Amino acid sequence: MSNIFLYGPSGSGKSTIGKLLADNLCLPFVDSDQVIEINAGMSISHIVEKHGMSKVRDMETESLKQITESKESIIALGGGALLNGENRLLVESHGKVILLTADLPTLIERLQNDPNERPLLAGDLKTKLSEYLESRADHYASFPLKIRVDNKSPEQLSGEIQTLLGRHHLSAMGEYDVHVGQISNLSHDNSIVVTDENVAKHHLDKINVEKSIIIPAGEEHKNLETVSRLWKAFLENGLDRKSTVVALGGGVVGDLAGFAASTYMRGIDWIVVPTTLLAMVDASIGGKTGFDLPEGKNLIGSFHPPKLVLADPSLLRTLSDRDLRSGMAEVVKHGIISDPELFGLCSNGMGWVKDNLEEIVKRAMAVKIKIIEEDPYEKGIRAALNLGHTVGHAVELVSGFKLSHGESVAIGMVVEAAYAVRVGVAVRGSDEAIESTLTKLGLPTRIPAELPREEIIRAMRVDKKKNAKSIRFALPVTIGKVELVDATDLESVLATET
Ligand SMILES: NC(=O)c1ccc[n+]([C@@H]2O[C@H](COP(=O)([O-])OP(=O)(O)OC[C@H]3O[C@@H](n4cnc5c(N)ncnc54)[C@H](O)[C@@H]3O)[C@@H](O)[C@H]2O)c1
Repeated sequence: MSNIFLYGPSGSGKSTIGKLLADNLCLPFVDSDQVIEINAGMSISHIVEKHGMSKVRDMETESLKQITESKESIIALGGGALLNGENRLLVESHGKVILLTADLPTLIERLQNDPNERPLLAGDLKTKLSEYLESRADHYASFPLKIRVDNKSPEQLSGEIQTLLGRHHLSAMGEYDVHVGQISNLSHDNSIVVTDENVAKHHLDKINVEKSIIIPAGEEHKNLETVSRLWKAFLENGLDRKSTVVALGGGVVGDLAGFAASTYMRGIDWIVVPTTLLAMVDASIGGKTGFDLPEGKNLIGSFHPPKLVLADPSLLRTLSDRDLRSGMAEVVKHGIISDPELFGLCSNGMGWVKDNLEEIVKRAMAVKIKIIEEDPYEKGIRAALNLGHTVGHAVELVSGFKLSHGESVAIGMVVEAAYAVRVGVAVRGSDEAIESTLTKLGLPTRIPAELPREEIIRAMRVDKKKNAKSIRFALPVTIGKVELVDATDLESVLATET
């Protein structure tokens, strides 16, 4: 259980943001000051008047014990609740504390319009507040997780907190949580792990589930034969309609285990623990499952969202350099789609990325979640996630899969961005910025000379998602924004590449 405690000075918005956060995460909201008032049967101002501030502090300790013994919640704390070391220890051992910080003018403006009585700020607000902030400056500075609230809406702030913590609840297609956390926190009765031989070697012992099925690794095994092996293994292991399948692996394991779960006994629950960067920021989120036919990739599939996605970035330490770089192509894509700051971080190169994988995972998954919650069944904006993929898929195919998916998408993004600039959709220079970032990550950006252009164009036309007359591209307008554009003249898309 991991509560989220919001802490900070009066006026920083703990209750407003807390309620919204609770709503977004489908958790109860608790205001610790209100718990004190309910327990005392009077307002905090009255307690101070009658018994002094020390009584409030004593009652605060009691209330925090009560709150932390109860179920997982979002908790707005009183502005000085953690000055007491005992309270701080208690709270920090029951969840994460987010400190909300604000400039003095922001706090004054908010408190002037606030009807609540605040005994510690009685008198001249500006003077009192300055003194109050000064006396607590060191205390507030000692909390590692901080969010500045000035000039931001509660919606923006709750989004920032969710990204910072890696905590999301999805509801557009099924209800499920996406958490960044530790694999050791997962234990599940009546379940079976599906993993592949590489992942099993490194990580199977970390998961607290007894039964497991190990399948061969690689896209060439993402086929009906493996799916039917999984169905049979589910039967042999006595899985029933109440069982849960735990997919531990990259996108291949997730797609296969998710599909097998979606069809076994007309659909049983599954949980996904992604182990590649691509799976953490993309494949595991969104409910698409499936397998390949000899005629093409992902031709058979279902929408069957998992019950939980648990991403543990420490599992990426054993991933090959090439797979990590390939995953970064999707991260860059998510930056281009709607997080320019994430795009900027990617320009720091692979050394920085390896030291900051948790931040990369949290930010990139937040982009995908925002999009699929808006458009779960790809009727509109979800198509933005295809940025770089129309050319990328074709390049991957024509290379005979010698180029990985991520490498092909990197090339696709640069080709499509250059086209976007040529047709006036994109801001001049955005293609160069994209190419430069991908190069810093060691990803290819040009179609290899030996790949015939006509074959790439043919492959784009037969891609299953496209209709014959025109092809819909997700093109970057600038870093942070994409637009869906139909193109008929595919030769001109590849024009600079000849
Ligand atoms: N369902 C979706 O929405 C969706 C979205 C994007 C991609 N996909 C699918 O995802 C697949 C690609 O996923 P992928 O790139 O994760 O490939 P993958 O699952 O094949 O994993 C790549 C390689 O890394 C190994 N591996 C995985 N985790 C490891 C770890 N922590 N340490 C060491 N080795 C590890 C695997 O055994 C494999 O050899 C494709 O089949 C694609 O179609 C699905």
